[in-house]
This record gives sequence, structure tokens and C-alpha cells, in this order.
Amino acid sequence: MIDQTLLPVQFEVIDIRTPEAMHEAIHSLRVRGAPAIGIAAAYGVLLGLQDAEGKARSSIQEDVIRVADYLATSRPTAVNLFWALDRMKSVARKHADRSPTETAEILLSEAHAIREEDQEMCRAIGHFGGEFVSEGASILTHCNAGGLATADYGTALAVMFHAHEKGKKIAVYADETRPLLQGARLTSWELMQRGIDVTLICDNMAAQVMKEGKIDLVVVGSDRIASNGDAANKIGTYGVSILAKAHGIPFYVAAPSSTFDLQCPHGDQIPIEERAPEEITEGFGKRTAPEGVATYSPAFDVTPAENIAAIITERGVLRAPYPDSIRQLIAEGNPTAASPDPHPHA
Ligand code: MRU
Repeated sequence: MIDQTLLPVQFEVIDIRTPEAMHEAIHSLRVRGAPAIGIAAAYGVLLGLQDAEGKARSSIQEDVIRVADYLATSRPTAVNLFWALDRMKSVARKHADRSPTETAEILLSEAHAIREEDQEMCRAIGHFGGEFVSEGASILTHCNAGGLATADYGTALAVMFHAHEKGKKIAVYADETRPLLQGARLTSWELMQRGIDVTLICDNMAAQVMKEGKIDLVVVGSDRIASNGDAANKIGTYGVSILAKAHGIPFYVAAPSSTFDLQCPHGDQIPIEERAPEEITEGFGKRTAPEGVATYSPAFDVTPAENIAAIITERGVLRAPYPDSIRQLIAEGNPTAASPDPHPHA
């Protein structure tokens, strides 16, 4: 996988060979973005089955559960991680009568399927988001919800990539996204790679840029969407949604259906990851605050459904009232998804 912590200065592909290395890669954001960490974790389960041959059937089942539960502790907020791991566990359970080697092969196909489905979902999100982007539109985004954060093409950035491919002239403002600068390091890099007009701003400039009339719409990704439509995303997104509301600018969330968590009725119940103080006090190795200063570093916040003009998914655009449109989306896609999960993850 690409080591995203090194971008944009260095483009390095690293080999991940053990579940421990995968856990570390997810926790330290070498791989990051909700769909991407789900895909990475699905492959991570396979890393724990490398000695499957010759094992007892029951012990391979135990290995799958043990490795999946371990990888589930790498990050708490993005539900796609738990969604992918639950899917791997349930496929293993379904094939409990197979030999360990066969089980490993079936699980490898499942991980490939999760990755391929994500690629398709991203393209479809780009297509459905197109209706919101008119010729000459100027779009603000926060964090990175691009190809790096998914199997390919992204969610929020898919909307921009698609509009650009259709020949629309668009401009993008990318929030730098403190403290780990996913907007500066990754989003502006991805947009520049595709020849899209991108302007980098510091997070605290968004209000002024909106006031100057430079933004027509906001599009962001999400790490978990509660069944009432409240959407968790990178810290600062909630503030951007308030700014957008204050300036009469529509605010859209783009996310695949793997981001919806029907077990979570309200955004308040979404677990918010807290990151290490050093990410604030000595980001990228340089000390920028006095030794010993107290810090608080939530990595995500929750944008209330009422601030969201629409949710762009791979199966179409959802509008308020979200409890109804989300329930319908999930029921249509998977008739069993709306029933309570016997293995709650959060
Ligand atoms: O901490 P990160 O970089 O993993 O946070 C990522 C985000 O907040 C993205 O916007 C979100 O995962 C959507 S990615 C398609």
C-alpha cells in the first residue's frame, strides 16, 4: 500500500506482511480514509491466516475472529472498518465446513470483492454527485475523501473528478485540515495530479473565503452516518457545516452505503477517536507548543443532519427526512442489513 504519511514529499509503496503491521499502518494513518481502512483490514485478516494449511477447521474459525477483533481495535470511528471485518467473519462462519486452505481462499476472494465493490461505488457516487456541480462551480472540501481514502476515485473527490471528466470547469478550495494536514498533503496533491484547479487554504480561512462569495457548495466524505443522518467526519467538518449554513451555501456529504450505521440512532453515539497530544504539539517533528501543555485532540466531529442538504451515495441521492431515506436505502440494498447485528462493534 501507499504510505500516506510520506505524501506528498515521498511516494512510497510499503509491504504489510503481518496483522500487527496492518494494525500499526491503520492506527498511524499510513492507510487512512474510512473505506480504505475497511479494505486494508479485510486483507489484514488474510495476513493472520498464512499458516492455515494443516490446521483444524475450528482453529481457523478462531483465528479469523481473533485477527478480525484485533484489527477492529486499530481505529474506532470509521464504521467501514467494522463493516468489512464483520463481513469477513460472517463469510468464514458461513463456510465453517470447508478446509482451512479453502476458507483462506474464500476469504481472499471476499477481500477482493470488498475492494472491487468500493471502486464501483466510488464511480457511482461521482455520477450521482454530478447533478450538484454546475459549470464554473467552486467547491470547498475538508480532509481527504479521494482515491487515497478509498479503493480508487474517492467519495467527495469523486464528485469533482466526475465533473472535471465531463468537461465542466470547476475550482476547488481544499482546507489544509489540521493537525495532520490531509487536505494540504493529500487532497491538493490528488486534485493537482488530475489537473483540477485547486487552491489550498488554512482551516481558519474558510469563513472569509465563503464571505467573499468564492464558494458555491461544500462536499465532504464521512466516516460513519447514524440512522438519523448525523455524519461523522474529520475534525473541523462540523464547523464548516455551520459556516456553510450561515452563508447559505449547500453542504453535501458523499459516502458509500458501507458508511451507514443503523445500530447508531444518533450522532452522539458515534465513538470519536482521540489522537496523541504530539500530533498537535509537535506535528511532523517540529515542536510548536510549550513542553507539558495540556491538549485535547478529537480526530472527528459530527455534523447534524439538519446541516446536510443531501447525502450522495452509490445508489442515489438521499434527502431529509434522513431516517426514512436511509432506512429505505439500506433495506433496498440488503434486506437483512436493517436487522440488529448480533455482533455489535462500537
Ligand atoms: O483520520 P482520517 O484521515 O482517516 O480521516 C478521514 C476522513 O475524515 C475522511 O473524510 C473520511 O474517512 C471519508 S474518506 C472517503
